[in-house]
Amino acid sequence: MKIYSAPLQGFTEAVWRNVHSEVFGGIDGYYTPFLRYEHGEIRSKDIRDVERKNNTAKNLVPQVIAATPDEMHPLLELVANEGYTRVDINMGCSFPLQMRKRHGAGLLHYPELVAALMAEVVKHPEFSFSLKMRLGCNSKEEWKELMPILNDAPLRHITMHPRLGVEQYKKPVDVDAFGEFYAACKHPVIYNGDLNTLADIHRIEQQFPELKGVMLGRGLLANPSLGIEYHDGSELDECEQCRLVQRMHDAISRELIPRLQGNTQFFSKMKPYWEYLLPNMPKRLRKPILKATTIEKYQAAVAVALKCDW
Ligand SMILES: Cc1cc2nc3c(=O)[nH]c(=O)nc-3n(C[C@H](O)[C@H](O)[C@H](O)COP(=O)(O)O)c2cc1C
Repeated sequence: MKIYSAPLQGFTEAVWRNVHSEVFGGIDGYYTPFLRYEHGEIRSKDIRDVERKNNTAKNLVPQVIAATPDEMHPLLELVANEGYTRVDINMGCSFPLQMRKRHGAGLLHYPELVAALMAEVVKHPEFSFSLKMRLGCNSKEEWKELMPILNDAPLRHITMHPRLGVEQYKKPVDVDAFGEFYAACKHPVIYNGDLNTLADIHRIEQQFPELKGVMLGRGLLANPSLGIEYHDGSELDECEQCRLVQRMHDAISRELIPRLQGNTQFFSKMKPYWEYLLPNMPKRLRKPILKATTIEKYQAAVAVALKCDW
């Protein structure tokens, strides 16, 4: 099976991807957080995130979010200009603001909009398209109406995160509904959702042996060695893990400190990683990292936590 890194706005931007692929590796493809076309433009931050000169991770797939072909065009133009031939279409985003615009999971309620996007996919054979979707926006039956449209479209694979848009991340993933989708989908299928350990990946692989791969999101933020553990067939020793997290952390900080203005910006970027990273770390070590008010105190707290003497 292939192991893919999921797109996570605010977390898996170019700096994280570049450093992760260099320090940990074990990932067969990285997906960018979604690019959007809004108010007649693409945000410069999004453009920078896909520019080739800012990316060193191999097998990078730009992801786009759009409700209509008109919204998708400028995004396709951008990625074509950067030389990409792979594009992933977001039909799973559950941010209420996006869903209200019929973006992401908001699209799943409108088969006619999905059909129009798939007709556009047919018109662009220069790209190899994939989709990332949920079971539905409001009901877990919605994918069934979309299946004939999606099965007819020239897609490379579909990544399914078996929850509803309105559920965001609250309810447990619906593995039985995923099984129904897996049986009905004629394209290769990638599973996504709540895979946090090597055992979780093995369990889903045993249950669905025809999977093309799995996509790891928060589980990879928490345990950045999950991809390499799968490919090597064993878990990484905890001290080696801490050593590599320290390397990754230092490399990301070196990139960000000169770029971000002051401590506040730096902390608002770095501290959220610690909400996920190394879930077995005792709270008494995590707290000083999250509470640090200067970069020096923050770095000292990180070094203490990553000494691996928990
Ligand atoms: C903060 C955050 C940002 C996300 N951004 C994106 C995104 O840009 N595109 C996308 O397709 N999914 C996005 N997702 C969904 C994840 O890619 C993934 O489907 C979800 O987290 C479930 O997988 P996991 O349990 O492995 O994390 C985001 C999720 C979170 C929590």
